[in-house]
Amino acid sequence: MPKPEVQILVCVNQREPGARKACCAPRGGMEVYRRFKDRIKELGVRDTVIVTRTGCLKHCSRGVVVCLWPWNVWYGGVEVEDVDEILEVTALGGGEEVERLRMPPGGWE
Ligand code: FES
Repeated sequence: MPKPEVQILVCVNQREPGARKACCAPRGGMEVYRRFKDRIKELGVRDTVIVTRTGCLKHCSRGVVVCLWPWNVWYGGVEVEDVDEILEVTALGGGEEVERLRMPPGGWE
C-alpha cells in the first residue's frame, strides 16, 4: 500500500454511562466511520485516502467529530448523510471545506 495522501480521523469515543461529558459513539461515530470506509472502497481511492477511528478529539459537545489531514480541517456534528459530501468536497477536492460542518474556532474540551 502506498503512503496515503489524505487521512480522515473519526471520533468513536464511548464514555461510561452517566459521564459528565458527551461523547461521539452514541451520536453515530461508528456509523460515520463505516460509511467513510465503505465509500472509500466503492470509489476506488483506498491507495490515497484512509479513514481511522479514534478516541476523543477534544470537541466532545460537537460530535461526531471528524478531522482531515493534511489540511487540518475539522468538522462537527457529522452524520452519515454528510460523508459523501466530505469525501467529494474535502478529501477528493483538495481540502475545500464544507462550510455548514466547519468546527467553530476554539472550544477545545
Ligand atoms: S468524545 Fe468525540 S470528541 Fe470527545
